[in-house]
Amino acid sequence: MGESSFSQSMFTDLCERMLRLCRLSAGESLIVLSQGQERVEYVDAFLTAGQRLGAKVMNLRLPYSSSATSGEVGVWTVGKTPLSGNQPAVDVLKSADMVVETLFMLFSDELTEIQAAGTRILTCIEPVDLLARMFPTEELKRRTDAAVETLTGAESLRFTNRAGTDVTYRIAYPVKAQYGYVDQPGQWDHWPSGGMILTCGADDGIDGRVVVDRGDILLPFKQYVQEPIEFLIEAGRITEIGGDGYQAELVRQYIADFDDPDAYGLSHIGWGLDERAKWQALATDSRGHGMELRAFYGNVLFSTGPNDIVGGPNHTSCHLDIPMRNCSLFLDDRAVIVDGDVVVESMRPAGSPVAV
Ligand SMILES: [Fe+2]
Repeated sequence: MGESSFSQSMFTDLCERMLRLCRLSAGESLIVLSQGQERVEYVDAFLTAGQRLGAKVMNLRLPYSSSATSGEVGVWTVGKTPLSGNQPAVDVLKSADMVVETLFMLFSDELTEIQAAGTRILTCIEPVDLLARMFPTEELKRRTDAAVETLTGAESLRFTNRAGTDVTYRIAYPVKAQYGYVDQPGQWDHWPSGGMILTCGADDGIDGRVVVDRGDILLPFKQYVQEPIEFLIEAGRITEIGGDGYQAELVRQYIADFDDPDAYGLSHIGWGLDERAKWQALATDSRGHGMELRAFYGNVLFSTGPNDIVGGPNHTSCHLDIPMRNCSLFLDDRAVIVDGDVVVESMRPAGSPVAV
């Protein structure tokens, strides 16, 4: 999208709706975090929207550091941000009631520190038209809450597909949800997220094989898989990456290049619930960070690398997100997704009962 291809006033209205969802109130402080000249329209829209609600607003602008984390260009690593080593800036952010960040801070120590101070923090980096099309809804949050309740009570998560996936996670970490807005102290979310539910397996408690099938999506590469890629997983580690296609070779080389044993760990596991998000979106639109692709209804989101997002010890910068179609997912042997369709009534869109 070109810089002038959306209406700034429409975007400001949208940001105002978002800040209302986040319950930003008069007298609260809002800081919009940015770097260099990146996303200046986003900064302006949020500052104006915050002002309309009577908040005390400001922009903390860092020197331009890198677009590597923006999802658009460059080597996509996680956890290293332009805030690294800048404690005075972190302290300013911790003093705010709410932060909107346009850098992509997920998996960083700074994000954790800011959340621990009670500041709620929203990531906003996706194209404006996607922010509008996947604007959060309370109905989707209710379905996400239902999924959180179901996953929270489970001890194991197993998923399969017709390509040969059969892997079991012994659940050992808290359940997290993303639904695209933050209304609680210390909460982090990413606009848009659809409804995403995730947790992590025990550090040594994931075993089986994941066969990523044709049409599944490799992020951050932004590619549809053309030949299956097979991850052999033993005691929470990827021990072998098989497959004859060039994408299997690409994954092998990409991970190896980090020269980090923790790059072979497993990250979050969960599923998406947003029926507005489209699996096919990448075919015609490769902008942005790929949140639509992570969020589409019934996908199982398999991922490799760090688990510090749930308090685990793996801090690697190597992170692959792999939304997979047509999977079946079971929590303690109870089916939640069958062949890519969510079969638990409370997680399905209104008016879409499970077929019997
Ligand atoms: Fe991820």
